[in-house]
Amino acid sequence: MIIENTTKLDIPESGKISRKLGVFYNPLMKFNRDISVLLINALGQDLRAADPLAGSGVRAIRFLKECKNVKEVYANDVSKEAVENMTKNAKLNDVKFSISNMDANRFLLESTGFDYIDVDPFGSPNPFLQSAIIRLSRESILAVTATDTAPLSGTYPEACLRKYWAKPMNNYLMHEVGLRILIRKVQLVGAEMEKALVPIFSYSKDHYFRIFFRCEKHKSAVDKVLEQHGYLVHCDSCLDRWVSKDIFSKKCKKNHKIDYAGPLWLGNLWDEKLAERMLKLNKDKETAEFLKIILKESKIQVVGFYDMHAAAKAYKKNSSPMSEVIEKLKKNKVSRTHFNPHSIRSDINLKNFLRVV
Ligand SMILES: C[S@@+](CC[C@H](N)C(=O)[O-])C[C@H]1O[C@@H](n2cnc3c(N)ncnc32)[C@H](O)[C@@H]1O
Ligand SMILES: [Zn+2]
Repeated sequence: MIIENTTKLDIPESGKISRKLGVFYNPLMKFNRDISVLLINALGQDLRAADPLAGSGVRAIRFLKECKNVKEVYANDVSKEAVENMTKNAKLNDVKFSISNMDANRFLLESTGFDYIDVDPFGSPNPFLQSAIIRLSRESILAVTATDTAPLSGTYPEACLRKYWAKPMNNYLMHEVGLRILIRKVQLVGAEMEKALVPIFSYSKDHYFRIFFRCEKHKSAVDKVLEQHGYLVHCDSCLDRWVSKDIFSKKCKKNHKIDYAGPLWLGNLWDEKLAERMLKLNKDKETAEFLKIILKESKIQVVGFYDMHAAAKAYKKNSSPMSEVIEKLKKNKVSRTHFNPHSIRSDINLKNFLRVV
């Protein structure tokens, strides 16, 4: 018996974590579900939600118990054991929702559409993106988890190119770059169907990336999304970085050879107002720390950040402590970043950053 917030779960002993076993429940993903619940509550609008890869049903049950605005939930899993388990868990929590036992794509395509679809697979969300996006209704939300962070973070650049159609970066910026590459990939699948997918809350944590998109069915909105695709250019020698629509220039200002990542999403990762509402609704201490950083980050609209360790290494000098650097920069836009504990997000230029560090 497992208790997650107010939800009780009867999980078979062997059903924890391993992807080979019939029922999947990962306690590490409680945070992922907590954030989803907060975000749905902060949205406020009434939702008809789908959980196409529902496992034990924990997500579906929590949505029904913790979000007043979730009016109906449709949960599905290809595994018979998972379906039996979520049926049991629904009874245990005294909630009612539709349960089906199909391949997620068939489940989505045979439905009439949803206002919220949560794609939470093992590994890459790729196999489910098209059918999920087809079934997004007007003014809906798409939530995507990806646990295949290795290709997106540059460990396997060829795999990233094949699966996500972009070149990753394997340095201190890799998680933000990976998240932005994944965002663009999902947006391209949306563009095909004339649906604009704009990120309203995204993050990287532990072994996964997570993005919530607001969907708008409008050609001009799609064009606007595509206009915000481009490259992040980075110099490994002097650490200068900038965004660019092309990668024709192969040198930085100091004439070093540059590295680049992309194409990727250059727009905002968060809707500031939404992050603010989530922080207000939240009651958990650890989540509050996380949301406070995200809220600060959301006010600084730049791609990438500066890293204290990378700076110390590249310039062979000791850096000042993080808190001092932030204090010295307080007249500028400056924040810690949730991507990296020894990095700061700011709109100052490299020269000013190095001077302070
Ligand atoms: C990561 S788990 C889901 C966890 C769940 N959403 C949660 O928050 O606890 C992925 C689930 O997808 C199911 N699955 C895998 N491939 C599937 C497919 N093609 N169609 C439907 N379900 C599938 C697995 O049986 C597993 O229960
Ligand atoms: Zn350089």
